[in-house]
Amino acid sequence: MTAQTPSASIPIRRPKLDFEREVPRFFLEGNPLKTHFFNALNLAFPDGERFFVKAVQEHKDRITDPRLLAEIAAFSGQEGQHARQHERFFVVLARQGYEVEGMLGRFRKIAQFTNRYVPSSVRLSITAGAEHYTATMASLVFEHDMLSDCDVTLRDLIQWHAIEEIEHKHVAYDVLVALYPYNYPLRILGFAVASAFIGIWTVLGMRALLLQDGRARRMTRAQFVEGRRALRDPKTTRFRVGLRKQLLGYFRPGFHPCQQDDMPLLERFRPEIDRRLLPA
Ligand SMILES: [Fe+2]
Ligand SMILES: [Fe+2]
Repeated sequence: MTAQTPSASIPIRRPKLDFEREVPRFFLEGNPLKTHFFNALNLAFPDGERFFVKAVQEHKDRITDPRLLAEIAAFSGQEGQHARQHERFFVVLARQGYEVEGMLGRFRKIAQFTNRYVPSSVRLSITAGAEHYTATMASLVFEHDMLSDCDVTLRDLIQWHAIEEIEHKHVAYDVLVALYPYNYPLRILGFAVASAFIGIWTVLGMRALLLQDGRARRMTRAQFVEGRRALRDPKTTRFRVGLRKQLLGYFRPGFHPCQQDDMPLLERFRPEIDRRLLPA
């Protein structure tokens, strides 16, 4: 196996996703808040994924384990596809009348600033921490059937991305602990920065999109109130509680992403997603 051969357990897929068809404005349960939670994350993905790949790739030359090198290649390939497909989704948002260029520009500036002024060890640690968020959300989306009432194109996009986040969840973390072993403060610093950024970005992103809906009268007051009430429904509450519990696991000194066994989820959902989304 060479350093450039991607790992077989982390396949790089090029899914068929139809962004030409009409996607309902509030594609998740008809709920503006739940929809914009995903939209806000969507806006962060393309440049966020490129930031992750750069942080991991910068450390590649110091890795000697051929298995981990293969996983780095596969991780980079998967994240590259995520960036491309989420960028394609921006066309849908534009068609729906959302102005997102300002937010995307702000994100790009923050990423450029961080790449320039923050040490690569910290950026790698931020990446490992952020990957714990994406993998945890991914497994909970399947576990609590969060997309049971979702537009089909968005369901395909989110489920495909979620499967791959689970498949490569350990890669950035393994690079971090291989090169900075026993450096608990560095690991927690990256997780703290990732947590603050994801929290602030998601809230501000949702707010910006909801304000656009309000000003354009696309959303009624009743829809907003009902949307907020639905955030406390049993399924969403279980998702939130599970998310908090699993995220906090990152603070355990002996933590490793693979301690959470997601194999049953992969075995259950991956064949169906591959069958639906991969060209025959
Ligand atoms: Fe990703
Ligand atoms: Fe990822």
